[in-house]
Amino acid sequence: MRKSMWDVMVLGAGAAGMAAAVEAGRRGRRVLVVDHAAKVGEKIRISGGGRCNFTNLGVSAEKFLGRNPRFAISALKRFTQWDFIARIDSAGITWHEKTLGQLFCDGPSTQVIDMLLRDMADSGVTLWTGCELGAVTKDGDIFRVETKRGVQEARAVIVATGGKSIPKMGATGYGYKIAESFGLPLTETRPGLVPLTFAEQELEWIKPLAGVAVQGRATAGGKTFPEAVLFTHRGISGPAILQISSYWREGEPISLDLCPGTDPAALLREAKRTAGRSQLGTALAQIVPERLAKHLAEVFQERGPMAELSGARLDAIAAGLRDWRLMPVGSEGYRTAEVTLGGVDTDALDARTMQAKSVPGLYFIGEVVDITGWLGGYNFQWAWSSGWAAGQVA
Ligand code: FDA
Repeated sequence: MRKSMWDVMVLGAGAAGMAAAVEAGRRGRRVLVVDHAAKVGEKIRISGGGRCNFTNLGVSAEKFLGRNPRFAISALKRFTQWDFIARIDSAGITWHEKTLGQLFCDGPSTQVIDMLLRDMADSGVTLWTGCELGAVTKDGDIFRVETKRGVQEARAVIVATGGKSIPKMGATGYGYKIAESFGLPLTETRPGLVPLTFAEQELEWIKPLAGVAVQGRATAGGKTFPEAVLFTHRGISGPAILQISSYWREGEPISLDLCPGTDPAALLREAKRTAGRSQLGTALAQIVPERLAKHLAEVFQERGPMAELSGARLDAIAAGLRDWRLMPVGSEGYRTAEVTLGGVDTDALDARTMQAKSVPGLYFIGEVVDITGWLGGYNFQWAWSSGWAAGQVA
């Protein structure tokens, strides 16, 4: 097959790749985007429960993880959440703020994919879907990229193939291999924003709680997230747990505050005063959902009437509700993780352009880079911003 020469080849047509292609195309570059999936932007489609949480009003470096989260600041400041909101507005996509600054489409998330496809077409970008990629090499100033449609040549290559999360949706870890083949360092990768799992003996009491949700606060690895905690058949999930999963490390406990913003000691003392003959489980059900209250009464091993519990014992129980220690054994892994932590070491990249310092013309953007956002639209904003940054120069 014939070789073709492109100004820019973008590998991966997810959020970051499409954002970069639009920018490079608008600069008049001859751009080819290649993806092995039949459909582009599949993660955009399923994101935010089908409504795409496309950015967050509160974007700042503290909302990102990585060996050097400050690496993200340059791109995030030059293409901000407001810039992306302006795009969304001009495409006529209506949106709303759900909670904690999280912006969602009012309608289906496919509107965002359609906007990106339209912008790519308008800026003359060529898109190949269902096209496998092979090795990428560099000869002088020219890159050679093996594709199912033959070897392509390009002056610049932007790697936007994402991480390892949700292999069922086409995630491959391909980008890490390309980085390695050019001698770029990687940081350790692991699943992030993922439900946590427990050993069999723990599951015995967790399973009956499946479906119970509490507005709690989860703490691990020096971070605390106040949001919902959900018990499932496999362990614990919900926004607070997904957030803390990115900070939690195997072998560490998670601390749950089951009643933030309340004074459980006062509530228990009040229950003792007004309903002394009732049992602890009944009193706890005023504080947490009934099924959980029943379980906690067993954890605290109190079966007698409230009247028999001393003030000190009530204080200890209240403290237990504020700092309930659970010991997960692992996570559900890449099968369900929303993101991959770690990736191409930011030390090897230029923060302004995303270009590899040691390989002129080679760029890494989006999730493949060792920058990971919190839950809440931060990961898409990183994809848009890093894609925009590379698209300005590639
Ligand atoms: P992304 O994974 O989107 O794209 C990579 C592309 O490369 C894919 O199209 C893939 O097919 C292609 N590719 C991979 N390997 C290849 C190969 N070997 N050859 C050719 N092509 C290859 N974030 C957020 O901010 N708000 C949200 O609401 C959500 N919701 C959400 C829900 C779920 C279920 C998941 C799994 C994830 C989210 N996220 C999210 C995270 C967000 O989806 C993620 O951070 C971005 O999609 C990352 O964008 P990228 O373009 O870097 O990778």
